[in-house]
Amino acid sequence: MSSVSGGRFDAAWLPVEAFRAVGVRRVGVRGEGGVVESVRREVREVCGWFGGREVGGGEAELVLEVGEVGLGDEEFLFEFDGERAGVRASGGVGLLYGFFHVVRLGEGAFEGPVRSELHSPALPLRMVDHWDNVAVHPVMGQVERGYAGGSVFWADGEARGDFGRVRAYARLLASCGINAVAVNNVNVHAVEARLLTERIGEVAQIAGVLREYGIRTHLSVTFAAPIVLGGLTTADPLDADVREWWAGAVRGVYEAIPDFGGFVVKADSEGQPGPFAYGRSHADGANMLAAALAPYGGTVHWRAFVYDHRQDWRDRTTDRARAAYDHFAPLDGEFAEGAVLQVKHGPMDFQVREPVSPVLGALPRTRFAVEVQATQEYTGQQRHACWLGPMWSEVLTFRPHGEQGPSVGELASELVAVSNVGDDPFWTGHPLAQANLYTFGRLAWQPSADPLDVLDEWLRLTFGDGDLGGLRTLLAGSWAAYEKYTAPLGVGFMVQPGHHYGPSVDGYEYSPWGTYHFADRDGVGVDRSVATGTGYAGQYGPPWASVYESVESCPDELLLFFHHVPYGHVLKSGKTVIQHIYDTHFEGVEEAEEARRVWAGLKGVVDAERFARGAERFEEQVRSAREWRDQVNSYFFRKSGVPDERGRVIY
Ligand code: GCU
Repeated sequence: MSSVSGGRFDAAWLPVEAFRAVGVRRVGVRGEGGVVESVRREVREVCGWFGGREVGGGEAELVLEVGEVGLGDEEFLFEFDGERAGVRASGGVGLLYGFFHVVRLGEGAFEGPVRSELHSPALPLRMVDHWDNVAVHPVMGQVERGYAGGSVFWADGEARGDFGRVRAYARLLASCGINAVAVNNVNVHAVEARLLTERIGEVAQIAGVLREYGIRTHLSVTFAAPIVLGGLTTADPLDADVREWWAGAVRGVYEAIPDFGGFVVKADSEGQPGPFAYGRSHADGANMLAAALAPYGGTVHWRAFVYDHRQDWRDRTTDRARAAYDHFAPLDGEFAEGAVLQVKHGPMDFQVREPVSPVLGALPRTRFAVEVQATQEYTGQQRHACWLGPMWSEVLTFRPHGEQGPSVGELASELVAVSNVGDDPFWTGHPLAQANLYTFGRLAWQPSADPLDVLDEWLRLTFGDGDLGGLRTLLAGSWAAYEKYTAPLGVGFMVQPGHHYGPSVDGYEYSPWGTYHFADRDGVGVDRSVATGTGYAGQYGPPWASVYESVESCPDELLLFFHHVPYGHVLKSGKTVIQHIYDTHFEGVEEAEEARRVWAGLKGVVDAERFARGAERFEEQVRSAREWRDQVNSYFFRKSGVPDERGRVIY
């Protein structure tokens, strides 16, 4: 734990020891101003820890240098000439990324073959969206779907006066390549709406700290701002007064924050206002904001999470999974250059297993960002260890047009994560959930990276080189384990309504949210085929439309997302659906118990406070996994009447 202004908190993946290789050396930093000063501060500090020093002349063993090297702002060259290592960049941000690259390499930066490598981020924008409220919301608390305490940015109804923690956070983000942060919730409530105007000064204070680490600040705004803040009678995006109001508001923002990144907008979604009220399209809405931001180079992130949340379960013609595509595919080509469509990675809502959204790849003339959820709303709420690297990697390496075509990671212009960080001393509640934030940043830098390599990096930085028992295996398999003891075969949403933690198989079955599994005595799953179902499968291009269309070719893990099948249906694995449900639920609990055992074995290996927090979380994970197993198994046993082949206890 470090103690700085702003509280006590865990060093996460940047403990002192991670800097040894740099800190013992003679290091030269060449360049001035801005982010270069952050690099210089790092170097001085780590050399202070380990006895190295900052040197000016030719005797440096590591040279970090800004110069005319003709690289992009975020790129850097890493060089090793057999004796000395060096980083060269065109500016401070590239230098900072290069510095952290050397930290990740450790002694490896100073040995091995002579080399000169160019490092560039594959995606220019790598953003975390905080669903933080300034004021504590009566239902959602301060951080919507936050499982790590209050906000890192806001406390007691205003920006934290003390930025020690924000600075430490910015440093963590930069060290894994994240370069943009949206500082408030996409559901913009009354107090938060004012951040755009009279409270922009508080946002500017936060932006000032984030800027030290090359991070640009973004703001979620309400589409109704001209009404709620400007006193206009309309927010119609084609109305001249409305456009003028936004132009003025944006001018004020850039006066306060010259490098402001732009807006995030959730419109016509779950009760938020939007252009539909005026008979306008989402392109009209987004383009109006893009026009206001254009003179300053800002971007509007327009979310594609638009669907009807007042459905009737009897209505089989409406399918929530279809909604984003139905709304946005027809608008391809209509969005302005400064608008980015921000698309959830799956068609529903961050379930443990969903197909890749058909929107990704269907709008060739639209810039889009893939949105993933680091905050574990549906994946154990940071009480369960669930490392999401493999899930995100599957999305990013998915090829919407088949094996010959580009991957989602190649098509996307950005990657966005809903943040999992709060003011908890461990940042993410569960110390192991830090791996999700780190992995997100590194995959955004290089979407084709093997997530297991990223996990190894995170483990080495966080815990050092010692023997970690089965920790790697535990984390590597944790998403699969979570899937096993929760909702089977892609069916999703069997959670407790409202807070979404723990099992409730029918919790959402008769609700208006459009998240049904349609289990009856004969079978389970949603028919989304073109032939007999909602037609969702037809939103994919070849080859996926036909892969998903038929029960025979649909992958097992997505079967119940696409099809309603009898309990006796035999999966590709050779098991029946019902036996798969039983087996995976028993296995999932065993894996959770094994995870708890692995963590218990790390007593004395990982630091005591982190160990204690983890141990408490693993207790809860095992308890909860058993609850999931028993609820789900009993439910399907009772519905189907089919006993477990192996005669295990089903309540
Ligand atoms: C989910 C989540 C909400 C959130 C929404 C969104 O539905 O439960 O809290 O507001 O996603 O992404 O906008």
